[in-house]
Amino acid sequence: MAIVFHERSKTFHLYNKEVSYIISVLENGGLENLYYGKAIKDRESFSRHHEEKERSHMCVSLPEPSILSRHYIRDEYPSYGTGDFRSPAYTVEQENGSRVSDYKYLKHEIVKGKKELPDLPSTYIESDDEATTLNLSLFDSLTKTEMILTYTIYEDFPVITRHTEFKHEGEEAIFLDRALSMNVDFLDMNYDMLHFSGAWGRERFVKRRRLEVGMQSVGTVNGTASGADHNPFIVLCRPAATESVGEVYGFSLVYSGNFLAQVEVSTHEMTRVSLGIHPEGFKWKLQAGESFVTPEVVMVYSRDGFNGMSHAYHDLYRKRLLRGEWRDKARPILLNNWEATYFDFTEEKILNIAKKAKEVGVELFVLDDGWFGNRNDDYRGLGDWFVNKVKLPDGVTGLAEKVEDMGLKFGIWVELEMINKDSDLYREHPEWLIATPNRYESQSRHQHVLDMTKDEVIDYLYERMAEILSAKVSYIKWDMNRYMTEPFGRDLPSDRQGEFMHRYILGLYKLYDRLTKNFPHVLFESCASGGARFDPAMFAYAPQAWCSDDTDANERTKIQYGTSYVYPIVTIGSHVSAVPNHQLFRTTPIYTRAAIAYFGTFGYELDLNLLSEEEIESVKKQVDFMKAYRDLIQLQGDFYRIESPFLGNETAWAVVSKDKKEAIAMFYQRLNTANYSFLRFKLAGLCPDTEYEVRYEIRGEEKSFKSYGDELMYVGIPVDRDDLNRQGGDFAAIIYKLKKS
Ligand code: DGJ
Repeated sequence: MAIVFHERSKTFHLYNKEVSYIISVLENGGLENLYYGKAIKDRESFSRHHEEKERSHMCVSLPEPSILSRHYIRDEYPSYGTGDFRSPAYTVEQENGSRVSDYKYLKHEIVKGKKELPDLPSTYIESDDEATTLNLSLFDSLTKTEMILTYTIYEDFPVITRHTEFKHEGEEAIFLDRALSMNVDFLDMNYDMLHFSGAWGRERFVKRRRLEVGMQSVGTVNGTASGADHNPFIVLCRPAATESVGEVYGFSLVYSGNFLAQVEVSTHEMTRVSLGIHPEGFKWKLQAGESFVTPEVVMVYSRDGFNGMSHAYHDLYRKRLLRGEWRDKARPILLNNWEATYFDFTEEKILNIAKKAKEVGVELFVLDDGWFGNRNDDYRGLGDWFVNKVKLPDGVTGLAEKVEDMGLKFGIWVELEMINKDSDLYREHPEWLIATPNRYESQSRHQHVLDMTKDEVIDYLYERMAEILSAKVSYIKWDMNRYMTEPFGRDLPSDRQGEFMHRYILGLYKLYDRLTKNFPHVLFESCASGGARFDPAMFAYAPQAWCSDDTDANERTKIQYGTSYVYPIVTIGSHVSAVPNHQLFRTTPIYTRAAIAYFGTFGYELDLNLLSEEEIESVKKQVDFMKAYRDLIQLQGDFYRIESPFLGNETAWAVVSKDKKEAIAMFYQRLNTANYSFLRFKLAGLCPDTEYEVRYEIRGEEKSFKSYGDELMYVGIPVDRDDLNRQGGDFAAIIYKLKKS
């Protein structure tokens, strides 16, 4: 059993081979976290790690002579108003206006396995032996509310998942003003915090900073998405931690809506990490018999640096978050017409692009925005999910059949949650648009958000999708291109308006759930103006996501590098696009564009008819390469970040098979310099005693050598600057293929 309860010391020890997490019940009935980190041997008691000291201004939570103060303990799930003056994990407002609560240990149960969360996506198990769960109940006798802290520890991953449930039994209603998913207090502040922040076109750039006394936090409050600005994932690490060594803690929230990731360092240099639904605008009413469940947080501990942490997330998310048929399948190489045509296409043009795609070996053709309603630009049409017969005379069905006849699968774009005012849907159902009565309705990309809390909206969208999917459609790109303004639930009473944004996200999950369960063969790719909804919750439905609208190879080194800290390579939507690049007007070699895109789902986003013969030959080789190596890259290998694009001119990474017999490595230089220094590419993750054959290609010329893993990792591959010059100079990449010889 990976969770032990010691009756005498009232201590819970959650542990597996890698990690220990120790909670003890305090004299006042509260809970203290005594340790979270590298696995340690179990003992009856760890009480020496609970410390009490007389301190000025301290407020004591038991009668004298006790000096137990909540402010100086590592509170497992801290409350408001009872002597801890740091930020609470939750606040419960009562009918008399008080927000003071006092939850005391009530009972617990330790059970094999793991339950899925109601109405919310979460990680899962396939057999009860994979994990053990602790449900730790506390009770506030005044409000008559039970609080259940649930922890699951996986047997084979250094992973603990957490969420909290409030079950209300009291006659008077209560309001949750804040209900974060988790809290962990650490005893010191000697940590760096990493967060993954940016904006449209530069999502998930790595930001690293030393912790300081006070508050440091990231979050989003946009209502519809986890967002492009910040990601619901933070890392705490020791300042010396690197990709390969050092203590690292990851905290990843399985949620697509407003979130807060917060690290507070007290003046006694204790560090408090908390993560969950953003309290801004949130207020949830509970009447007798009602309960509220927070989203899940996935916590990973590693002593092997960021790569160690990422491997745990990648393995867990690949195997126990992604679901359905596509979980274990390599992804089809697709061609998407968006950057090839934008709105300006006819069926003939589309079929021409598809034909060329088939010639080079592409497997799936995706028709992006513009095929429905009166959608010839982004001013109109959203909501009218009926085919535009002027553009597609034989409808989606006809086009899908023609594409399938060519030997390609067919996929299509939708943006279900949105509505243009210039649409039949709006003319019929203006009340479906989210707006606050008598307030200006802000626009974004000329569109508005549909009220996903309404069942009739979900039903309408489901029916439209079911109709579309009755054609030969194998893939859906589910886009979402605006944040929410003037949030207001027309169906909610005034004291439930604070529930609206969370209810929106629950509605979104409801629709996704229905569609993915009823159309299990369809591959869903999520998208939100590029990568604004790149979060674990989406991956429980759509096993891949468009990573960014920025398809420039150089920018993609950063975006994909940052994304890979928590999200597996198989989820990262990556395409080769045309040059000059449409976002940055930069020209990069076609070899490089593919070299970066291989480390993702891989596809094309351009009209191949416009390429030269020589370029088409390279494209054919790229497609063959990806077909040969996608199982390794997407499904089987471990991804190692080696050189960071955020720190220097070079970017390097590699995927190594679990048995270490095979690897694919990528080396990239941003800008060229004449007569410059020597370069060594030091690989990672290989077996030091294995001899590998290393093959690579410079401008079509095959080169190879043999070397042991130790030499490749500790001395490195000498990268010849002349080779980089021949590969293009600026923005040049080399792909190395390694195989046990
Ligand atoms: C935003 C997406 O990120 C793009 O890939 C494209 O699908 C457009 N929307 C279409 O409007």
